[in-house]
Amino acid sequence: MEALDQAAPKIRLDGISKEYIVPRTGQRTLAIADVSLDIVQGEFLCIVGPSGCGKSTILNMIAGLAEPSAGTVAMDGAPIRAPGSERGVVFQDYALFPWKTVRENIEFGPRFRSDARLGAAERDKLVRHYIDLVSLTGAEHKYPHELSGGMRQRCAFARALANEPEVLLMDEPFAALDAQTRLILQEELLRIWGEDLPRAERKTVIFITHGIDEAVFLADRVAVMSNHPGRIKTVMDIDLPRPRRESLRATSEFQTLADEIWQLIRREAYEATIDRR
Ligand SMILES: Nc1ncnc2c1ncn2[C@@H]1O[C@H](COP(=O)(O)OP(=O)(O)O)[C@@H](O)[C@H]1O
Ligand SMILES: [Mg+2]
Repeated sequence: MEALDQAAPKIRLDGISKEYIVPRTGQRTLAIADVSLDIVQGEFLCIVGPSGCGKSTILNMIAGLAEPSAGTVAMDGAPIRAPGSERGVVFQDYALFPWKTVRENIEFGPRFRSDARLGAAERDKLVRHYIDLVSLTGAEHKYPHELSGGMRQRCAFARALANEPEVLLMDEPFAALDAQTRLILQEELLRIWGEDLPRAERKTVIFITHGIDEAVFLADRVAVMSNHPGRIKTVMDIDLPRPRRESLRATSEFQTLADEIWQLIRREAYEATIDRR
């Protein structure tokens, strides 16, 4: 791995906690406690953990959609206080505009972003590039309801990329897809991310999943979370060669890493199946 540890962090989570207070009842939930983590430029970091352990809470704070109750979240050394086009978000449920075509969805950011006034020709070129990159050429004029789940997620991905973000935040983007489509999109994501580019030219990706195999296949590092309150239990290096191809999944190196992570979260996963509230 190329000197992951020595670089200044792209994203820094420093002692963050988040407490939710339900307005009507005043009930408090400490969703995450004292989470610290540095993510460097060009890194692909996966966060895994049982349902309800605070994965989305962390991602939303990096996105600027929520504020920590304590601690700081910073990008390139500056605190994150609001959403910004340098951070693109892809959610599980596509979040496409249903009344806009594929093309119009992808074009939305480049057209309306206040800091990027592209000319029509430039914008057209940019949008075409991302449509091609995610292999949606030919489907530009379809509406989201006319697309398969996989194609919708390709469109959501292109829409996030068209803002040319430095950091991509992905919250279980493949969780609603069937198993085959999910495997295909995992490889596609790595291709689009630029596995063969130097680290400095790659986007920084923070990818949330509850799939252990998915995390091992994609990540440079996997942060494993525990529950009640959510904490980062361990961060594991995934020293598997890139580019990663389907055949990697059958290797003993891959299986060993996946097993190690499973042992770590097994107890938590078990407890999450028992509702103690
Ligand atoms: N807006 C909210 N108000 C109150 N509690 C919340 C809110 N969002 C999340 N929580 C609680 O915080 C915890 C972490 O949630 P979340 O970050 O969504 O977990 P995950 O994404 O790992 O499933 C859960 O106990 C959840 O019920
Ligand atoms: Mg979640």
